[in-house]
Amino acid sequence: MSASTLPPIMGTYGRFPITLVEGKGTEVFDDKGQRYLDFLGGISVLPLGHAPDAPLKTLIEQANKLWHVSNLYHIQPQQDLAQKLVDSSCFDQVFFCNSGTEAVEAALKLARISSEKSHGKSRSTFVAMNKSFHGRSFGSLSVTGQESYQAPFRPLVPEVRFADFGDIASLKEQMADDVAAVIMEPMQAEGGLNMPPEGYLAEVRKICDEHGALLIYDEVQVGIGRLGSLFAYQLFGVEPDIMTLAKGLGGGFPIGACLAKAEISQHFVPGTHASTFGGNPLASATALAVLNAIEDGDVIEKSQAKAKTIEDFMAKACAKIDGALEPRGKGMLQGIRFDKPVLPLLNHCLEAGLLVGMAGPNTLRIAPALNTPDDLLEEGLNVLFTCIEKFSS
Ligand SMILES: Cc1ncc(COP(=O)(O)O)c(C=O)c1O
Repeated sequence: MSASTLPPIMGTYGRFPITLVEGKGTEVFDDKGQRYLDFLGGISVLPLGHAPDAPLKTLIEQANKLWHVSNLYHIQPQQDLAQKLVDSSCFDQVFFCNSGTEAVEAALKLARISSEKSHGKSRSTFVAMNKSFHGRSFGSLSVTGQESYQAPFRPLVPEVRFADFGDIASLKEQMADDVAAVIMEPMQAEGGLNMPPEGYLAEVRKICDEHGALLIYDEVQVGIGRLGSLFAYQLFGVEPDIMTLAKGLGGGFPIGACLAKAEISQHFVPGTHASTFGGNPLASATALAVLNAIEDGDVIEKSQAKAKTIEDFMAKACAKIDGALEPRGKGMLQGIRFDKPVLPLLNHCLEAGLLVGMAGPNTLRIAPALNTPDDLLEEGLNVLFTCIEKFSS
């Protein structure tokens, strides 16, 4: 292809052939006026759906006041958001950035620097999980346990070892006194919606403590109410030392965060880490409004019944349809593992006016808004069932 025939955007995405222009709640519209039910939510990004009322109002008000000043000055919305996150979690301090991969970078750097301070010498090794996904920058890619993502970019950050998610013996094999931290998603999302086995996360915590290693939970995808509690660690009852957030935090406005307990976070001092845009007034004000709207509307509590409806649907589909092997995931992040690649299913759904995604080649993923109205949930699931039948016939 000559330079003149190349499209102006680099080819990193395989895009579906529609152009989306407008959305409200669970509905989104393309440039031809065609309506879609959005059951993917910008890939687990929209806890309140498109353009939720209160955060939208806050965003517009903030846009009229102040967009950007850098982190050389205090920013009240950022202070307020940090306080809200600290008050709602087991963590003491927050570092703000703009995306999931940056939140993971911050977590890795914080674990390294704090391991040096607490052990007298730097521990440089990270233990990560096979089938994990932590992002595309070099640090986060280096702890992403998927060969296809890593292979084109070697050499990566050195001294990363991988264990099998859900397998304590495999973790024990990788642990030694050179490990700064274990990094994991408490439920693996991109890698196939893999739930941790009963008791596994508590065992991981114990092993980290025995080796003086920190435990990092990447909650970029499973945080902000996705699994049925504000943070996934609360659901599983195991506290990490460091946690990352992004996706749902801004309700669609880009923001990422790395949260940590005081004995760790104190090692980030001026000069150790930074982000020009991180926690800017627009992102912070909007994210705070998202958290408040979730809380004020009892959104997570009310999503439990919707999650149960989805769970029942997934179980029914697996029971009735050959090739639908097993339900995956939890809460408002669920899917089905099939006996073949699901891309054609995604296309059937698109044609039928439903946006869904995948988590690995053979697993369907849906991540609808936590407050999806019941009638739209039912409508979308009916469409999905018809499309699964067509796909599997
Ligand atoms: C668990 C997890 N961590 C990190 C990331 C990277 O986030 P971002 O694309 O915002 O950099 C993702 C993205 O899917 C994710 O699922």
